[in-house]
Amino acid sequence: MKANNKLEHLAIIMDGNGRWATRRGKSRLFGHKAGVESLKRTVSACIELDIKILSVFAFSTENWSRPKEEVDGIMNLISDFCEQDVQRCVDLGVKVVTMGDLSRLPDKLKTALLNLIQKTKDNNKLIVNVGINYGARAEIVRAVNLMLADRVKSCDEKTFANYLYTSQLPDPDLIIRASGENRLSNFMLYQCAYSEFYFPKVHWPDFNKKVIQKAIKVYQKRNRRFGGLLAK
Ligand code: IPE
Ligand code: IPE
Ligand code: MG
Repeated sequence: MKANNKLEHLAIIMDGNGRWATRRGKSRLFGHKAGVESLKRTVSACIELDIKILSVFAFSTENWSRPKEEVDGIMNLISDFCEQDVQRCVDLGVKVVTMGDLSRLPDKLKTALLNLIQKTKDNNKLIVNVGINYGARAEIVRAVNLMLADRVKSCDEKTFANYLYTSQLPDPDLIIRASGENRLSNFMLYQCAYSEFYFPKVHWPDFNKKVIQKAIKVYQKRNRRFGGLLAK
């Protein structure tokens, strides 16, 4: 592995649930259900691959524009996961944190999420950072408003990063978007300045450890220069 290519923080845009289900003649919600199972498998795979931080995009600030039935279904699926999987997360050593504005979420989901965060806060095998009602532009504007409220007089990159949801996390090394789309859709725009990108065709419900291993292989061949020159 190249010295500068350690993969500490993997971020994934979990896309393609709807298309995966539609192709099977099923409802979009069926696809989201399969998506939750895929996330569970991915968490285990990350632990096996010694990845330390996994950020995932579960629901964007723009996803509210979908039909109410789909939005409600997704909210219920996430809250069921939070309620049912606390012990599994604890056993795996997973610490759950979130990025996004939780205030707009249904009370049931908020309660379940806060409980999961609290119960897993001392774990240190893998940090799973879940983007829920998350949008990078909203995150950046929020940071500016928090700084104004704190009457911050001058700001450098470090100060600014401290006001992002990810203040406790290093930037993602690699961002994978499932489903073949080649865009970020408002995901971690500030943090991805020097991330590497990988866009497999696989829809999220079919995502698996092999895809991560392939992504890591490709990632390790990349030359991350960070604006400098390659070491001789
Ligand atoms: C990703 O799958 C999950 C969410 C955005 C909540 P999609 O629901 O976007 O699936 P496609 O892109 O329509 O196939
Ligand atoms: C991005 O996927 C958001 C999540 C995966 C949660 P979208 O399906 O919402 O993005 P677009 O609409 O294809 O850009
Ligand atoms: Mg999509």
